[in-house]
Amino acid sequence: MNELDAIVASAKLAFSQATTPPELENAKARFLGKTGSITELMKGMAALSVEEKKSRGAAINLAKQAIEAELNASRQALADAELQKQLHAEALDVTLPGRERGLGGLHPVSLTMERIEAIFGSMGFEVAQGPEIEADWYNFTALNTPEDHPARSMHDTFYVEGGSEKVPNLLRTHTSPVQVRHALQHVKLHQAAMDAGQPMPEIRVIAPGRTYRVDSDATHSPMFHQCEGLWLGENVSFKDLKYLFTEFCRTFFESDDLVLRFRPSFFPFTEPSAEIDIQFQQGPLAGRWLEVAGSGQVHPNVVRHMGLDPEKHIGFAFGMGLDRFTMLRYGVNDLRLFFDGDLRFLSQFR
Ligand code: FA5
Ligand code: MG
Repeated sequence: MNELDAIVASAKLAFSQATTPPELENAKARFLGKTGSITELMKGMAALSVEEKKSRGAAINLAKQAIEAELNASRQALADAELQKQLHAEALDVTLPGRERGLGGLHPVSLTMERIEAIFGSMGFEVAQGPEIEADWYNFTALNTPEDHPARSMHDTFYVEGGSEKVPNLLRTHTSPVQVRHALQHVKLHQAAMDAGQPMPEIRVIAPGRTYRVDSDATHSPMFHQCEGLWLGENVSFKDLKYLFTEFCRTFFESDDLVLRFRPSFFPFTEPSAEIDIQFQQGPLAGRWLEVAGSGQVHPNVVRHMGLDPEKHIGFAFGMGLDRFTMLRYGVNDLRLFFDGDLRFLSQFR
């Protein structure tokens, strides 16, 4: 083996023994660096004749190329080994069970709302909506509760700035303003036919939604839900209200012997008026009565504000507390639980 072959062989050996890139680069310096063996041989050529330089130079170059090829092969091998190590360290265990993505569900009060819409829908009621930021006129005045009327203090109202009687200035305290909004639309729609002597088609509507009062305890929340009902025609009586509401409750609670109590009461917008109580049938409050709705025969002044003649049009309205219905349905004793946002509680109703 000549001198050059020996250098190439020892470079190959040195490169193969390097286990890290810095070790490999150090080994390279021993052969190709400033004082490396190949570099030294090049320097030694200065004393040779032109002919000798040619052949010696070509031989040294071949050896240098061979060393560079070995170096590149070793660099690649180290890089491959590093990649393999990394891939191994980051390997995924595809047999691990997946992370569960909880199935969402409707809020219990939304479930109640859907149920109520379905039951009243089957009894021929349509569903209306109204704004939550309401004008004084719809929330109170049109409902026979003018300013300074003592009944206004029955509701602790949240007011908003910048409104007036006809411009939104409060958070509606009940869904009753939708009675007037819906009736006015209904009358407008059928005015021409009525002017031509035809009877007004009956109004049969419910209006579920959010309502607000300055209230907070186990059966009162500052934001709560009501569902209004209005049935107005030419011959709709209090008897119909009792029948309809009782049927509705029995269907809602799936109980034929559910007990309801119609308790005489006062609302400015109905006369006579009654509050409706239901008895808890399950849970820690079993046997206790809970008020769930206000109701009554629509007051003549309200019928007038609807653009109708109270001598001709008569009917009843009710406004029920959806959160209370939800409490009774599931036997929950504190309505604030519905709004605390605790998933451990809420996910029970999925
Ligand atoms: C009213 O709001 C009347 N507008 C109901 C009405 C409509 C009467 C149509 C006649 C004709 P009341 O203030 O009683 O009435 O409320 C009705 C129901 O809403 C109550 O029976 C109760 O179930 C519920 N409720 C009232 N305040 C709250 C509250 N802060 N939190 C939860 N539920 C409430
Ligand atoms: Mg009440």
